[in-house]
Amino acid sequence: MRTNLPLIAATLIALSCVSYVPPVLAGGSVERGKAVIEQWCRTCHQQAGDTPNPDMAPPYEQIVLRPDHTRAYFMQFLKEDHFPMTTYRLFDSEREDVVAYLMALQQSELNKRGGN
Ligand code: HEC
Repeated sequence: MRTNLPLIAATLIALSCVSYVPPVLAGGSVERGKAVIEQWCRTCHQQAGDTPNPDMAPPYEQIVLRPDHTRAYFMQFLKEDHFPMTTYRLFDSEREDVVAYLMALQQSELNKRGGN
């Protein structure tokens, strides 16, 4: 039985390495989020500067200025399908990236509004 101890210790160390996520990755990447949006979301969501079209979903520049649209809100919202978008669901890492992009956009839109 004594010979099993080093094996157990080695297994525990290996497991703790696998579950370690570097903090840098946990926040998502603005660039990757932008790419996901270009690829999957532009068919319905307008871009800033497009002629307003009631048949299209609004641009993210407007969405991020809606009240209470926080990081937590977007993380939850993007976990679910949104009508009429039912065929595509983001991977967790893509969701992090998209939300990182939306948060950066929100900050820059708020800065514009503040006049700076
Ligand atoms: C098939 C069309 C379609 C696609 C594709 C689509 N959306 Fe939407 N989206 C909509 C519609 C319609 C709304 C509702 C319009 C509104 O809130 O004014 C919406 C609303 C949203 C909102 C606002 C939610 C709120 O509560 O304010 C977010 C955020 C959003 N979409 C993100 C995304 C992202 C990210 C993608 C790509 C992964 C995406 N959408 C792809 C149609 C689509």
